[in-house]
Amino acid sequence: MQHLLSAADLSTEEAVLILDTAAQLAEVTDRSVKKLPTLRGRTVVNLFFEDSTRTRISFEVAAKRLSADVINFAAKGSSLSKGESLKDTALTLEAMGADAVVIRHGASGAPHRLAASSWTGCSVINAGDGTHEHPTQALLDAYTIRRHLAGGTGDLSGLSVAIVGDILHSRVARSNVLLLKTLGASVTVVAPPTLLPYGVDSWPCSVSYDIDSVLPQVDAVMMLRVQAERMQAAFFPSALEYSRLYGLDSDRFTLLPDHAIVLHPGPMNRGMEISADVADETRSVIVEQVANGVSVRMAVLYLLLGGMAEVE
Ligand code: NCD
Repeated sequence: MQHLLSAADLSTEEAVLILDTAAQLAEVTDRSVKKLPTLRGRTVVNLFFEDSTRTRISFEVAAKRLSADVINFAAKGSSLSKGESLKDTALTLEAMGADAVVIRHGASGAPHRLAASSWTGCSVINAGDGTHEHPTQALLDAYTIRRHLAGGTGDLSGLSVAIVGDILHSRVARSNVLLLKTLGASVTVVAPPTLLPYGVDSWPCSVSYDIDSVLPQVDAVMMLRVQAERMQAAFFPSALEYSRLYGLDSDRFTLLPDHAIVLHPGPMNRGMEISADVADETRSVIVEQVANGVSVRMAVLYLLLGGMAEVE
C-alpha cells in the first residue's frame, strides 16, 4: 500500500495490522525517551488547507516520534493564498524531496487527485477531504473502541456503534461506517432527515431518526459536531431544538448500557451535540482518542514509509 486515501482501501487484515502496530508503537509513548529511529532521514510534509488542531499536531508528533523530518505547510502564510494551484504546490514539495504528504483539503477528492497525478511520487495520506473521508480518524476511533470493548485484540464483531449528528457533512462518519463494517461492528447512523446524505440507504449501516431508541442498544456512541462552516442553508430550526432532539445530555446518557463509552472526534461544541457534564464523564473517552491518534498515525507512517519490518 502506497497511499491511505479512504477507509474503504483497507482490507480487514490491513486495518488490523495498523491497529496492532499502533498498540506496539503506543509503548514508545510511555518511555522517557519517546523516539524510534525508524524514519530517520525521511521527510513528512503536513499540507493543511483547512483549519485543524488535533489532526495536524497529531501527525507532527507521530512523525517526530519516528525521527522523520517534518515540514508544516499551512495555506495561510504560504503562496497558496497568492493563488498557487495544488499542482504547483505538489511539484514544489516533490522538488524538496518529500517522502509523504499528509493533506487536509476543503475539496472532496483533493488527496486522490494528488495521489493519482504524476506530480509527486510520495505517499499521500488523507487527513480529511471536504465532506468525504478522514481514514486516520476512523482508525483511531476503532483503536479506542477496541481497547475498551474488545480487550485490545480481535475484531469488533458483535459490537454495536451509533454515530449521531451531522452525518451529511461528516467525513468522520463516512470513514467510520466503512472501517467499522470492515472490522465487523454493526453501525447505526442517527440524525434528523435533513442531516443525512442522499444515498445513505446504500451505506453498510442502519439509519435512525430517534436517538432515544438507539442508545440502549449500543456499546459505543460517537457524537458529531454540527459543521456550521459547511452549511449554506438552514438544516434545523434552532440550536436549542437540535440539542433537545439530538444532543447527548446527562438524561440521555442514562439510557446507555453501563459499559458503553462516548466518543467525539473534536472539536466539541459543548452544550450543542454534547453537554459539558457528559463530555467530562469518565466513560467519555474523548481525550484518550487524541492520545490514540498519535499511535495510530505513527503506525500509518511506519507502515507506508518504513515497510513491514518488526517494530524495534
Ligand atoms: C473532524 C474533522 O476535521 O473532520 N475533526 C478532527 O479531525 N478531529 C471533525 C470536525 O471537524 O467536526
